[in-house]
Formats: sequence, C-alpha cells, structure tokens
Amino acid sequence: MPDLKTTYLGLHLKNPLVASASPLSKKVANARRLEDAGAAAVVLYSLFEEQITHESQELDHYLERGTHSYAESLSYFPDLDTYNMGPEPYLEHLYKVKQAVDIPVIGSLNGISTGGWVDYAQRIEQAGADALELNIYYLPTDPNLSSAELEDEYVRLVREVRATVKIPVALKLSPFFTVLPHVAKRFVAAGANGLVLFNRFYQPDFDLEELEVVPNLDLSTSYEVRLPLRWIALLYGRIEADFALTGGVHTAQDVLKAMMAGASVTMMTSALLQHGMGRLMHILTDMQEWMVVHEYESIQEMKGSMSQRAVADPAAFERANYMKALSSFDRNLP
Ligand SMILES: Cc1cc2nc3c(=O)[nH]c(=O)nc-3n(C[C@H](O)[C@H](O)[C@H](O)COP(=O)(O)O)c2cc1C
Repeated sequence: MPDLKTTYLGLHLKNPLVASASPLSKKVANARRLEDAGAAAVVLYSLFEEQITHESQELDHYLERGTHSYAESLSYFPDLDTYNMGPEPYLEHLYKVKQAVDIPVIGSLNGISTGGWVDYAQRIEQAGADALELNIYYLPTDPNLSSAELEDEYVRLVREVRATVKIPVALKLSPFFTVLPHVAKRFVAAGANGLVLFNRFYQPDFDLEELEVVPNLDLSTSYEVRLPLRWIALLYGRIEADFALTGGVHTAQDVLKAMMAGASVTMMTSALLQHGMGRLMHILTDMQEWMVVHEYESIQEMKGSMSQRAVADPAAFERANYMKALSSFDRNLP
C-alpha cells in the first residue's frame, strides 16, 4: 500500500486530509466521526475577534477607521451571543475535542487587529491545541488605507501571536494581495510556520425583487482548487513554510494535484458538508488506487513534483500561458 503520511507544522499526520474550520467541529461527536472517517487532523471552527472584544468592549483602531464606528461595526455581525459559542465555552469545547480524539486538533482564531484579544492564542494553546490557525478575513474598503499599511498591521499581528504561543502557527490568507509572494515571505519572517491558501470570501448577491443584499454562502466545486493550486506551485521551494491547500478539494485527484503542487495537506469543508464525512474514506481509497496504478510509493515522492521549480515548462504558470490559452479559442470561431 502506498504511504500516505505527511508532516504539517511539525505534526506527523497519517495522511494529507484535514477537516478545515467549519460547523462540523462544533460537536465533539462529529470530531470523532471525522477521525473515524480518516481525517488526519481537525481544525476547529473559528473563535472570532469580535466575540472576544464584544465581551471586553474594546476594539483596535482598524475597525473604527473609515466609515464605521465601533457600534456600527458590531451591528454588521449577527447576534454575537448566538453566532458561535463565546470565548470560554470555545476553550472548553476545544479541550473536550482534544480529549475525545487521537488526531491533532488545530485551534482557529479569526481576527485582524492587534490587541488584548490575541491573548486567546495562549488560552487556545493551554486548552490543548496542537497548533493554531490564524485567519485574517478582512475586506479593506477604506480608500485612505494603503495596502502597505494593512500588510504592516497583519505582520504585527502575526508577530504578536507568534510571541504569545509556543505551538506552531499557520496563517489563513485571502488571495487578494498585490504581490502575494512578497507578503507571504514577510508573514513567514514574522513567525508563521504555515500558510493556508486560501480563505474564501463569501460574495453577497442582490435580490432584485426585494432590492436587498443577500448574504450568500455557496459551497465550492473542484474548479476552485485551481487558484490555490497555482499559488502553492509558485511558492513551493521559494517560501520556507508548510502549505495547506483549502478551497475546492472534493476528490482524490484534487488532493493528488495539491501534493504535486507542494502542499503538505489539503483541507476540506464543502465536500464533507455536501457528501458527508464518509467522503474522506472514499478519497483515501481512490488516492491509494491511483498511486498504485501510477507507481507512486509515497506522498513524499510526489510532493512538489509539479511546482513551478520542478516542471519542464515554468512559464505555464505565468503570463505566456495566458496568451496561449486565449488564442486556443480562435480555431473554434466561426
Ligand atoms: C459553513 C462554513 C463555515 C466555515 N467556518 C469557518 C470558520 O469558522 N473559520 C475558518 O477559518 N473557515 C471557515 N470556513 C471556511 C472553510 O474552512 C474552508 O476554508 C472553505 O470552505 C474552503 O474549503 P472548501 O472548498 O473545502 O469548502 C467555513 C466554511 C463553511 C462552508
């Protein structure tokens, strides 16, 4: 049987399938089911900065900047008491999940500003998390805020979280940076051990009848894997960090591609919500079959084999290929 073992953030994992942050980890029994179905690790759903600061009534200048005041920014969020568990119950839940499973448990903090809430990184560590994922989900809308300023703020946050805990820290990023490799390098220099690519921004839609903006949370399809796939392939070997690919992982083929790009693990939510947790087992079986047929003995053997540095045609990831792709439509025109 091919060897599916991998390492991520210094954790030794039996395979590269990780359940990413989602409501599936809100019940201890489901965390156990994820483990039984084959997940090699589980990321707990996020504890949000707003939940923590809501309690202490303080928020860094970032949310106060621009158009919205503190009170307004809180009104953007659903009722914070019912949205997720509060900070203390989150820690208790993490402790219980950790007791219930043998696989590594990764805590998740979701926020953007430096400040007192960052202490929760340490509380998450104390509750037993094997690693911490820091999710910087933020949509900058203030025309007076420059990308350099925002990146500096993120770097400060990473540095602060890094200084707070001893466990490994991974940073979950959006793809919307002007020069992703540069900012990725800065985050790693600030102490991130891993990069989770990418955060998925949920795009609101318009209801034309009601003239309302409707929040829209569609699940992904395999098509979405291409964005993180390309970026991991480009960054692998250039940035000294472990990569987790999240977004669009639904099949064994998606996982195999991620490994070849250079990812250490893949993270899944949509496929598990759509098809159930048993999907993990199917993917593992399909991966093994594919590896036997294609004579791969281990995941390690394929890791990074399709990264930009390894492929025969590195330009395939870049601008030259865009022109080729566009012109490939010409011959089908009437
Ligand atoms: C219902 C739902 C809840 C989620 N909650 C969180 C969360 O609390 N923290 C987080 O970092 N990501 C969260 N995510 C994002 C997922 O972890 C994942 O990164 C994203 O859905 C892309 O992966 P997928 O294509 O496998 O769904 C959530 C996604 C969904 C669909």
